[in-house]
Amino acid sequence: MKIGEVHDANRKTVGRTILHFDAVESTNETAKELLESDVEEGLVVWADRQAAGRGRHGRAWASPLGGLYASFILRPKDAHAWVLGLLIGMPVVKALRHFGVFAGLKYPNDAVYQDRKIAGILSEGVYRHDVYHVIAGIGVNTNVDLEKLPAEVQPRATTMKREVNLFVANEEFLDYLLNQIDDLYSRYRNTRIEFLLKDYRGQCTTIGKRISATIGKDRVIGKAYDIATNGALVIADDQGVKHDFFEGTLEILK
Ligand code: BTN
Repeated sequence: MKIGEVHDANRKTVGRTILHFDAVESTNETAKELLESDVEEGLVVWADRQAAGRGRHGRAWASPLGGLYASFILRPKDAHAWVLGLLIGMPVVKALRHFGVFAGLKYPNDAVYQDRKIAGILSEGVYRHDVYHVIAGIGVNTNVDLEKLPAEVQPRATTMKREVNLFVANEEFLDYLLNQIDDLYSRYRNTRIEFLLKDYRGQCTTIGKRISATIGKDRVIGKAYDIATNGALVIADDQGVKHDFFEGTLEILK
């Protein structure tokens, strides 16, 4: 059920209107349903919990009360769902740091603190009436007890409640986060993508690390080397051969 609507005319695109729900299946799905009507670009769907939150690779995203779950609608100039998904990792990490968690960005867009995941992004490209849209959904473990997350997730996850003494309301976190995303999107619209990917490269803590990645059926071990202009992680294997990695399992080796 919708429980509120917030407007902020100071934002350029993202977060000028926020629809607040108590519970939805998935904010990405609600945002997609809204595409059937004539919605403004930048519209945000925010929910206090999700009954069927989704993560990357078709995984579930545990969404208990206390966490932050929000999706927004973009109509980018190019079909850039993957690249935008990467870039949005930067404002998420910035917001976490602002509120006291010195998180880093693990490729593609996991916000990680001391090797434990604290936030994730699911960015999907969809056509509606021949217009390309990106639905970008962000889940942040804000005011959640670690024990409320599934047992199999707990060893690799953390929450702001666990890491920061100070209570941060989801509303406050979302407000700051949307300001950062709005700025990033305005840069995206006005800057060459190579420049933004350079920023991303500088912030991605996977670069320079020895990693093991699955590409299709193959396993590649080598050094995370660069970010290509299509948003792929370039891995240089031990023979110096370069491989482009997008989706799959990525393990940081010690
Ligand atoms: C991942 O790291 O696997 C991505 C997680 C994305 C979760 C968010 S929560 C808000 C939005 N709605 C969803 O169903 N998923 C995203």
